[in-house]
Amino acid sequence: MHKRKTNAVHKQLLSFALAALLPLCLNAAPVAEEDIAPEAASGLTSKTEVVAENFMVSAANPLAVKTGYDVLKAGGSAIDAMVAVQTVLGLVEPQSSGLGGGAFLVYYDAEKKQLTTFDGRETAPAAATPELFQDQNGKPLAFYGAVVGGRSVGTPGTVKLMAELHTRYGRQPWPDLLKPAQKLAENGFTVSQRLGSAIAGDKERLQRYPDTRRYFFRENGQPLAEGDVLKNPDYARTLGLLAKQGADVFYHGKIGEQIVKKVQEIKDNCGLLSRSDLAGYRIKERPVTCAPYRQFSICGMGPPSSGTLTVGQILGISVQADLASLQKESPEAWQVIGDATRLAFADRNRYMADTDFVPMPQSLLDQEYLADRARLIAKGSALIQVQPGQPDWDNPVAQADDQSIELPSTTHISIVDKDGNIVSMTSTIENGFGSRVMTNGFLLNNELTDFSFASHKNGHPVANRVEPGKRPRSSMAPIIVMKDDKPYLVLGSPGGARIIGYVANTLIRHLEWGIPVQAAINAPHLQNRSGTYELEAGTDAEALKAPLEKMGYKVKIRDLNSGLQAIQFQGGRLVGASDPRREGISMGD
Ligand code: DON
Repeated sequence: MHKRKTNAVHKQLLSFALAALLPLCLNAAPVAEEDIAPEAASGLTSKTEVVAENFMVSAANPLAVKTGYDVLKAGGSAIDAMVAVQTVLGLVEPQSSGLGGGAFLVYYDAEKKQLTTFDGRETAPAAATPELFQDQNGKPLAFYGAVVGGRSVGTPGTVKLMAELHTRYGRQPWPDLLKPAQKLAENGFTVSQRLGSAIAGDKERLQRYPDTRRYFFRENGQPLAEGDVLKNPDYARTLGLLAKQGADVFYHGKIGEQIVKKVQEIKDNCGLLSRSDLAGYRIKERPVTCAPYRQFSICGMGPPSSGTLTVGQILGISVQADLASLQKESPEAWQVIGDATRLAFADRNRYMADTDFVPMPQSLLDQEYLADRARLIAKGSALIQVQPGQPDWDNPVAQADDQSIELPSTTHISIVDKDGNIVSMTSTIENGFGSRVMTNGFLLNNELTDFSFASHKNGHPVANRVEPGKRPRSSMAPIIVMKDDKPYLVLGSPGGARIIGYVANTLIRHLEWGIPVQAAINAPHLQNRSGTYELEAGTDAEALKAPLEKMGYKVKIRDLNSGLQAIQFQGGRLVGASDPRREGISMGD
């Protein structure tokens, strides 16, 4: 423990020393405050469950799902299918994930009957300092002022994640798995309704850099729209190079060189990413984090993700607050879940970050601790104030609450192959269209804005502050639920910090209230991260506004734009479920 603390201090000193080397562009004035809008909703499409016997893939776009299905049908492994699905998603859903981003992957090895997790999260460049997103006076930058440009770009992890896992678990030749996306990029694909509306909703920012503008706009200056056929020869060429030279061309070769050049040369908001950041990038295999929930075990990614820990706390606190005694979907039940979510988020914002850099209490999922937290909940009336708890830990450090802003894009992929190997992977470039910086046919992430913009508060450091080489805290929650030591349910969602509520509520509805998975995904969203109860617009949840207000909550009705993709093991069958709020489907045999 002591060693960990010394390391953290050492790294911080190093970051101050490196500050002297920062390029001048970091002193650029912040861009004026803009209206912050998440990736827009694209309407509801009714979805029904899909049943199969041998294998299944569930993801956010039909073209990507069909590619994964073909790979699985030809005997490919879950990891083979993941490579094919991810490379197609990077083309047809470029606003959400791709080669320029990062991902977390939870893997179940059917032969070894073992769960493990792989961290392909972006890292902060070695030259980054805790003040990366502050102006000269230490004031946090406006969100989009930080996002758009090179400053927010972290070292991408997705390419290495695909390549390393393919080496370990792949069955089909690597170049074959990149072929479908390569062909689609060469021949063109039809812009979907969701992509079309995302481009229309982000017109101004997408025009800031010429390469990005050229790709997303017609020659007459009109944005591409649903139904347009879009070719991406640069992406096809990139995949061709990856097929021949593997991930090396990205991390040590020509593509990496061009990424770095692009990020550093941006005039209005340049970044710090260097070739040595790319060369030093590592995928980290980390032990799975599991939270008990009745007879189930909710397993997923630990830090730097806060996903599984926070979902686990919400479920644990709700059970201990005797959720079972309350009528399902009643205002009373949602009061318990809402305040459990607030309590869990208070801990998340205080304690959770990349534990390779900052210490974290070890007892955040202990049943006794969660029981203490549950005792704070006053049935039938909203908590007036919520504070982080005082969990036991060996090495307490006074820390301040996180101040990061998280907004939607991202994608979730669930896959089961014919041997029972499982992939649960949430993949992202962070904001819709990431940093809006495009090179070699793909967009670069803005993942670094998942760090807290403020580095300290009242003299205490924020756990999720920027530090060189550190991975920004995430909310992504790729999950595999186990029952009797066997896989029971695979799921995850995009949605920024709301991912946690989307996943937790789906689990409560299915595991606690017995609602079938597809119906649980279709059901209206309600969530309360920090006081305001958000109810999904245009749904039955709106009827809870008055009773929740009576209990003392501020209520806001808004779009809640999840993208849940799930596969359930049901007897000998696989049941796929997709979110009606996006374009995802499930396919299997
Ligand atoms: O890692 C995270 O938590 C965020 N970068 C994820 C962003 C996201 O889910 C946006 N979603 N729609």
